[in-house]
Amino acid sequence: MPAQPDACLAALAAAFPPAALLQGGAIPARNLQDTSYLPPETPLAVLRPDTPQGVAEAVRICARHGVAVVPQGGLTGLAGGAHPLAGAVMLSLERLAGIEEMDPAASTMTVRAGTPLEVIQRAADEAGFLVPLDLGARGSCQIGGNLGTNAGGNRVIRYGMAREMVLGLEYVLPDGTLVTSLNKMIKNNAGYDLKQLFIGSEGTLGIITRAVLRMQPKPGCVNAALCGMESYADVVALLGAARRGLGPMLSAFEVMWDDYWHEVTETVGVRAPLAGRHALYVLIEAQGLSEAVDGPRFQSWIESQFEAGPIGDAAVSQSMGDVAAFWAMRDACSEFGSRLGPHVAFDVGLPVARMDDFAKACKARLAERVPNAFSVYYGHIGDGNLHLVALSRGAAVQPMALISATVYETVRDFDGTISAEHGIGLLKKSYLGHTRSPQELALMRRLKAAMDPQGILNPGKVFDMEDKA
Ligand code: LAC
Ligand code: ZN
Repeated sequence: MPAQPDACLAALAAAFPPAALLQGGAIPARNLQDTSYLPPETPLAVLRPDTPQGVAEAVRICARHGVAVVPQGGLTGLAGGAHPLAGAVMLSLERLAGIEEMDPAASTMTVRAGTPLEVIQRAADEAGFLVPLDLGARGSCQIGGNLGTNAGGNRVIRYGMAREMVLGLEYVLPDGTLVTSLNKMIKNNAGYDLKQLFIGSEGTLGIITRAVLRMQPKPGCVNAALCGMESYADVVALLGAARRGLGPMLSAFEVMWDDYWHEVTETVGVRAPLAGRHALYVLIEAQGLSEAVDGPRFQSWIESQFEAGPIGDAAVSQSMGDVAAFWAMRDACSEFGSRLGPHVAFDVGLPVARMDDFAKACKARLAERVPNAFSVYYGHIGDGNLHLVALSRGAAVQPMALISATVYETVRDFDGTISAEHGIGLLKKSYLGHTRSPQELALMRRLKAAMDPQGILNPGKVFDMEDKA
């Protein structure tokens, strides 16, 4: 069906108040781009419904007029999943925000999709609970986008990815049907677990409007250490020791390579909480029950690792201020955009044992192929997830495709995944075949065709319907 943009706009204007429908010059600049460094696009309109029924009505109207719909949350995505498409209606969830219910008996919180993650974290904390999803963009990302991309973040090693934290979900299908399934039970094997289709499919199968999140008890204490390490073999040994020695208390195991550390201290200007230069740095965090018991336990475990050998030097937290200072080194990568300029940010997944070999191979290949190549390495090593940021220093226009092709070729050589946690969006879709088999890609296309035969929802994201390879 050919798109009928004028009739679509007229129908939307009849159904929604002016504050919900922004067109032309009234479209805010922030809706024209996400965090993928793709050039801005001009959509047909930005629509901001404030109820799930409004989202359903909007999708129904767009579908009837053959106009594509791109859902937008906090626009912090790095892969282009929420990047505007020219001529599409951008469906922003920002006004569908707020916490609807806390259920302490079930340990659940029911939230609207446009609620910023930090608001959710704070509300859980005030009620004596923890919503363990956490990532650098917590202040501006929204839960709908976190679930749409199955976000990972800092505490996956203990609590799993966003998918693990969802008990119930409400979503709008590509034909405008609203499906409300706000389940609170941990166990519910009644047929297909349909919510999993919408978590991580980047708004290509449905638009998430509400969710029931599973809360955890709030930890009684948090301890952390920042360790300087001289070899990657020592890092792997320390990870094994942390799993055995800290057990379920282990809540983060983040690694920063020396090139990352140098950039954060020199370019971003964060004061290093650990003196000296080391080949690698490990941030270990443990959430315990009580400081009186678990504080000394953590301290003595770190000391045992000193004696056993893997740790070269370490700073151990004495206060929550210290814990925050350690995390500041890791969170500083969110400043790379403003400090380094346009770059390509990667979230590859690899076998833990091969991370350092990958980092070395990748750096060498980038140096060979990309003029004035610059790259730094860090990530959630306990989850098998390595980040790298790469660019051509001094280039007027970044050779994004060359950088991506070089990195993803190396990922394929190491049997990794092109995306561990950020998703595919637009930036990675031509490399999806590096990680997924032709059979898997064919099934993805069949699923998309069955659920969205008109190709209305976020078209061209994650993969193209025709195989261009
Ligand atoms: C992080 C983001 C980039 O881990 O995923 O810092
Ligand atoms: Zn990450």
